[in-house]
Amino acid sequence: MHTTAIAHPNIAFIKYWGNQDDALRIPMNGSLSMNLQALTTTTSVEFCEDLKQDDLVIDGQSASPEVLQRVSTFLDIIRAQMPDQHLKAIVISNNNFPMSTGIASSAAAFAALAAAASQAAGLDLDETTLSRLARRGSGSACRSIPSGFVEWQAGTCDEDSYAHSIAAPDHWALVDLIAVVSSTPKQVGSSAGHALAASSPIQKARVADCPRRLQICRTAILQRDFVTFAEIVEQDSNLMHAVMMSSTPSLLYWEPATIAIMQQVLKWRSEGLQVCYTIDAGSNVHLLCPQQDADDVEAQLQSMESIQSIYRSSVGDGVRLV
Ligand code: PMV
Repeated sequence: MHTTAIAHPNIAFIKYWGNQDDALRIPMNGSLSMNLQALTTTTSVEFCEDLKQDDLVIDGQSASPEVLQRVSTFLDIIRAQMPDQHLKAIVISNNNFPMSTGIASSAAAFAALAAAASQAAGLDLDETTLSRLARRGSGSACRSIPSGFVEWQAGTCDEDSYAHSIAAPDHWALVDLIAVVSSTPKQVGSSAGHALAASSPIQKARVADCPRRLQICRTAILQRDFVTFAEIVEQDSNLMHAVMMSSTPSLLYWEPATIAIMQQVLKWRSEGLQVCYTIDAGSNVHLLCPQQDADDVEAQLQSMESIQSIYRSSVGDGVRLV
């Protein structure tokens, strides 16, 4: 059976960095995010009798051996639950945004793959089981399964580490403006980065304080309290980057343009614009703002020279089959 699923990437407000178990991707701390409606990954999967190995095409190009290996290892988890465990798959995936821009594509990729491949395999998984499965491909992918504003409870093992929705997409009209400052692929991807987190003396304190940040951020979302939300989102991003910079070897993802935008965001907020920043494992900056401020923030961003492109998204749905 040939099945197709659509998923959106997500942006974390309280971030996941470091694992209790690297192989199962059980995180050190819980995290909170929203899905990004404007960005989509559409993935089709078919298990076939006559294939010798899995075949993966992304945006019209055959995938590299490394990427194919990661996807095949993920498909093995699904194959283990199929009557015929030897069937290989044809996977065709298309993004409506360039992967090279460093916008978190693995979350949408593994969320769409988990939904399409499990359905193609004849498994009818509920949302929790699908979230646990997506987590095995890329941790943050478990947050692209439920809809809207999403919390991933860290848990302690495969069974209790999954994400659920805390509010629907229409609960709060937040906008993410993604300022792309570099399209060079990052030198250390997040899977390798998570493994370095424990080497930072700051990580223990970051993890220990996480329940406090989650509580403040969750309440701010539920009450649509942007002032509180902005403070905690920036603090959480700064804490993650402090861990990255102080790990061994050190990870420094920021470019001069990243810092220039962070400084502008603080200035614009002090002048009355409702906007805050958050940065993933890369140099691009996500500017979060209520919809009524989004045009002004976008206009301000457009006047900055160092920005290559800007993506704009509202709060998105969860994964779905088409
Ligand atoms: O899911 P991964 O392994 O790509 O890790 C995501 C890590 C961050 O994007 C930096 C933080 C997050 O919670 O999304």
